[in-house]
Amino acid sequence: MIPKSTIDEIFETVKIEEVVGDFVTLKKRGVNLLGLCPFHNEKTPSFTVSPSKGIYKCFGCGEGGNSVSFLMDKEHYNYPEALKYLARKYNIDIVEEEMTKEQVQDANEKDSLYIISNFAKNFFTESLWKTEEGKNIALNYFTERGYNKEIVEKFELGYSPKQKDIFTKTAIKKSYSEEFIVKSGLGLTIDNNVVIDRFRERVMFPIHSFSGRVLGFGGRALSSNAKAKYQNSPESLIYNKSKILYGMFFAKNSISKNDNCFIVEGYTDVISLHQKGIENVVSASGTSLTIEQIKLINRFTKNITILFDGDSAGIKASFRGVDMILKEGMNVKVVSFPENEDPDSYAHKKSSEDLISFLKKNAIDFITYKTKILNADGEKDPIKRITIIKDIIRSIALIPDYLTRTEYCKICSKLLDVKENVLLRDIDQARKKINPYPNKPDVISEKNPKKISQDIKLKQYEEEIIRLLLSYGNEKIYFEDEQLSVSKFIVSELKADKIKIKNHPHNVIYNEIERLINSKQDINQSFFITHNDISVNKLCIDLLSNQHIISDNWVLRHKIYTGRENQNLKKTAEKAVLILKLQHVESKIKLIQQEIKEQTTKDEDFMLLNNLIKIKNKISLKIGRSSF
Ligand code: CTP
Ligand code: MN
Repeated sequence: MIPKSTIDEIFETVKIEEVVGDFVTLKKRGVNLLGLCPFHNEKTPSFTVSPSKGIYKCFGCGEGGNSVSFLMDKEHYNYPEALKYLARKYNIDIVEEEMTKEQVQDANEKDSLYIISNFAKNFFTESLWKTEEGKNIALNYFTERGYNKEIVEKFELGYSPKQKDIFTKTAIKKSYSEEFIVKSGLGLTIDNNVVIDRFRERVMFPIHSFSGRVLGFGGRALSSNAKAKYQNSPESLIYNKSKILYGMFFAKNSISKNDNCFIVEGYTDVISLHQKGIENVVSASGTSLTIEQIKLINRFTKNITILFDGDSAGIKASFRGVDMILKEGMNVKVVSFPENEDPDSYAHKKSSEDLISFLKKNAIDFITYKTKILNADGEKDPIKRITIIKDIIRSIALIPDYLTRTEYCKICSKLLDVKENVLLRDIDQARKKINPYPNKPDVISEKNPKKISQDIKLKQYEEEIIRLLLSYGNEKIYFEDEQLSVSKFIVSELKADKIKIKNHPHNVIYNEIERLINSKQDINQSFFITHNDISVNKLCIDLLSNQHIISDNWVLRHKIYTGRENQNLKKTAEKAVLILKLQHVESKIKLIQQEIKEQTTKDEDFMLLNNLIKIKNKISLKIGRSSF
């Protein structure tokens, strides 16, 4: 846990222009700095950095945030990782808050596992490069498989010698404890509590964390009479197979850059593609693909291309993968390889260019892929056709987004010659089975456009309230007999009519402001801009940047006059409050009208309706709708 005081210190020290400046070239433009946006492609700069506010905002794509969110978006750090990066950059010591006994023990244990894994990696690479046995057996093997020196070094491949306990003995000699040799899975306890090496006479593939630390190993047998072709480290405190993708450390930049990630089956596939210059590739080695692994990729791209063997196990795995990826709302394509080839073997037969164009040409959408595979031996057979259609419907039904489902229906309809509306109906049916609560937002928003526009309106009006609170909350406005701060005025107005802010994170900000008012404190913008709830600080930055960051140029271009509302604060605040009130009144009216239609009303409701309509008219008059 990083203590709040350290977080504050980091935010106080950090200079946004220096943090962003490591990634983007910035030029001075008045009080702000301007550069080409790193979040979208543009030729003329619209990415603005405000050193005084500590925030950035792109007027091209709308991205905005502070130093921490910049690193989270650009470098895919999580919140504490981003803070640690900044602390390192500015030499701020992070003294993490005291941990519980168990946490300390876990942390120590984790550290010990990291250290011994790193030691093992060095041991295996030295055995490969510096011992006769390693050079003769393992290095030769890599060469024969077509791996060059650079790639063997890059992936830190190694060799575990024949002698059954050489690693364990060496480690103990260097005072590593037997406990961690066993806990890391590098050693195995056999009879009489004797510990021997798990990996013997194998080429070794270290498995790296996100930031390049070694977590575990895969070892491939060299002798043909070995029990298993591959042996892997067991799970440990640092090695959680379902959450790790082999090659991610080497692939992450390229995945972002190419906006696509290839998934292959094995270690060798990853390495061979790298050697051919295709670096956006990972594999779920040692497990079948998991949801967590897919979510990991989702942090870098929405697009996945599966490259699995054409054998039946590979096809089965690819089908499973396709469905999981669709369910995450991501896009998936599939490339099939010629018979008896896997990406590794195929890569060695092709030049880089040929391989890249092969992947491009043969990446097909999942419907075409499934149709092709399932239809392989029964083109005209109607029963077979129905099976395929049903199978594809099940897959499409997993896609959370309605429009995407419709698009895929079109493809399916053409390919399998089924009417689109028939498909859509069946998909709807299938979705009901997946989603046992058909009234949840997804479905509502598809079927009830009126409801959406009501929701959007409410959100906009709440947003305006929050914007005013953050921008002018502390300023005073004058009434006939009293003087109030804008925030006090707004909050007491809404409270009087029992109106609550409903949207998230607007409600978080609002409640916080209400608390400040009650304890007679001012509203401090930077508190919200650096709030540790990312959705809060994003929204605040968005709302505030409209008046603070915008260059004069932008203001003129968009015909926005920021001066006026400032001068006429009272009117602006009153209007915002009235509009929100009106929105609440209108939705209540609609609700009652609906009940009347459904004949579930009581007599009082008619009275209420009458009153509400009167109120509505009164407010509308006050606002002077026509001038809006
Ligand atoms: N695998 C494993 N344990 C096994 C077999 C396979 O963990 N007993 C994993 C390995 O990550 C392996 C991948 O599954 O890389 C694919 O297995 P396979 O296709 O059999 O091996 P290849 O990657 O083709 O390896 P090679 O080319 O060296 O035969
Ligand atoms: Mn292979």
